[in-house]
Amino acid sequence: MQPFTFHNPTRILFGPGLCDQAGAEIRPFSDRVLLVTGTGSAKRTGAYDRVRRSLEAAGVRVRDLEGVVSNPRLSKVREGIEATRAEALTAVVALGGGSVMDTAKAVAAGAVLDEGDVWDCFTRTREIAGALPVFTVPTLAASGSEMNGFMVITNEETGHKLAAGSEHLYPRLSILDPVLTCSVPPDYTAYGGADAVCHLLEPYFNGSDPDTPLQDRLAEALIQTLLEATEAAVARPGDVAARSTLMWGATLALNGLTRAGIGEHFFAVHMIEHALSALFDVPHGAGLAALLPGWMSWRAAESADKVAQLGRRLWNLSGGTRREEARQTIAALRDWLRRVGCPTSLSELGISAGDHGRIAENAALQAGIWGVDALYTPEVVAAVLAQCQE
Ligand code: NZQ
Ligand code: ZN
Repeated sequence: MQPFTFHNPTRILFGPGLCDQAGAEIRPFSDRVLLVTGTGSAKRTGAYDRVRRSLEAAGVRVRDLEGVVSNPRLSKVREGIEATRAEALTAVVALGGGSVMDTAKAVAAGAVLDEGDVWDCFTRTREIAGALPVFTVPTLAASGSEMNGFMVITNEETGHKLAAGSEHLYPRLSILDPVLTCSVPPDYTAYGGADAVCHLLEPYFNGSDPDTPLQDRLAEALIQTLLEATEAAVARPGDVAARSTLMWGATLALNGLTRAGIGEHFFAVHMIEHALSALFDVPHGAGLAALLPGWMSWRAAESADKVAQLGRRLWNLSGGTRREEARQTIAALRDWLRRVGCPTSLSELGISAGDHGRIAENAALQAGIWGVDALYTPEVVAAVLAQCQE
């Protein structure tokens, strides 16, 4: 195991009905907030009215930032920063999925910048030196943004989607009310499950330390549980028990717990998927699902043992060579993705082999920022994409 620092400062309140406590919980920090929401689901389900009422009842003045789209845009972040500054707001509250939470974080970071543009924080030409306090009430289980310091934003002018992270971006508090996720339609429920599983699988295969038995088993337990809970939630959207498991599992999948001690690692599939989303505006989890089996096949050339370990422990696969076990493991994952309704190839997303070069070039910006451009050159990314095409 490698040396590490683990510090996750986000306080979690978990339970059905707890979104009504947003006001009482947030009031000690702020009496003037920006409330960030998406394109209408929170209003349709009544979650918006409940959270807004709770804030106002506690004496918190609310300024809305509505209309955050999936694969959230920089222009909306800038609109939020302007409003926050103009109205001297002192905190940002997100009510929605990962897109809404990430927009809230970017507004919180951008609002306190002395100079320059918030996009500089994504290209790493400017440090994230602080942020307004962020609070989240997630309505979709997927990104893990509710308990981490990451945000992912699309710059529609340059056509790039980039991730950034900072200790200042951990939400102060996140209220996880699983009932709010019961209205997520089956497709986005499945994409969310695939996203959370991918957050666990990537470090599982990419950690630089080969001897991390505890981290492996934590990840395997979470993956197995997420596979089951996603299937249950897709089959029975109103199953609060399944929604609860899915929600807490997705949060734990990217809150730093399973990655502590695994050494150097980075999110290659996410890096490539962000290029897909930037260019084709595909839902994040669908893009990951289309890439995962192909990337694992590419990866299994070097890491057949680890892929086979996953198959033995999750699906009780046994017999044959390590390579054969790895092949069966990838087939089992593909079966699961199909069963819950995810695409498992780029062609299912309408992407053709002729697009690979453009995707690989787009991913090169993030690879350079992450310092992995020598490992994941555009040629390597194109080779991975070729494995994912059909
Ligand atoms: O816009 P609304 O009306 O809210 O509809 C959304 C959207 O259409 C809908 N939805 C959300 N909650 C709902 C609901 N519909 C019915 N009932 C509800 N309760 O679902 C659709 C997708 O929402 P979105 O927020 O885009 O999904 P998700 O949570 O998967 O977030 C995806 C974004 O998170 C980023 C991704 O790149 C992507 O931009 N990620 C952020 C990460 C982080 N901050 O740590 C890590 C992840 O790897 C990921 O990259
Ligand atoms: Zn993700």
